[in-house]
Amino acid sequence: MSEKKARIAVLVSGGGTNLQALIGAQNRGLLHSGEIQLVISNNAGAYALERAKKAGIPTRTIVKKELGSQAAFEAAIRETLEKQEIDLVVLAGFLAILSEDFTSRYPKRILNIHPSLIPSFCGAGYYGLRVHEEALKKGVKVTGATVHYVNEIPDGGEILMQKAVSVRENDTPETLQKRVMRLAEWKILPAAVEMVCQKLTERNEA
Ligand code: GAR
Repeated sequence: MSEKKARIAVLVSGGGTNLQALIGAQNRGLLHSGEIQLVISNNAGAYALERAKKAGIPTRTIVKKELGSQAAFEAAIRETLEKQEIDLVVLAGFLAILSEDFTSRYPKRILNIHPSLIPSFCGAGYYGLRVHEEALKKGVKVTGATVHYVNEIPDGGEILMQKAVSVRENDTPETLQKRVMRLAEWKILPAAVEMVCQKLTERNEA
């Protein structure tokens, strides 16, 4: 086994508990085929940035409004990724849309965590708490989380890992969100990132 690790960038927008799960996995050696080099936020107030700083990971804030267009926003992200020679981009609660122009440049190099069992409660407009509100409205008894590759279809890329979580009768969107995070997201995201980094580093060795 080569010592070379895949270089990971994590893109965030908010609280960053999934980023924290990745940092924890890295510290415990569960994530060992890759290393988080950089955290990019599209929101200057994201608590995820504090988590990155505490872990000694460099951060960048790239705000679409300040750049004036989607094209300029994506160009700034691309430039940052290229400068850092990033191998794998992980969307961990990154709530901005990335266009096909962006995603097509990184085939099987972008992962996303989504808080439902895709193909339920996913696609345009389904993010954060809204996903759990819709799951409760529908009355599903089982929900969960999915890690998938990102392509041009929102939440439509190849599925890598899923974990189911039972819905309880007295669940609110908030209690369900917390349980899905704790029992599913924080487990499958680090596991899927390690799996993909292993593939990437094996490919580099060949
Ligand atoms: C997570 O539940 C993640 O699955 C979801 O946003 C939350 C971010 O939390 N992502 C989406 O809904 C993407 N469509 P975090 O900032 O604490 O990781």
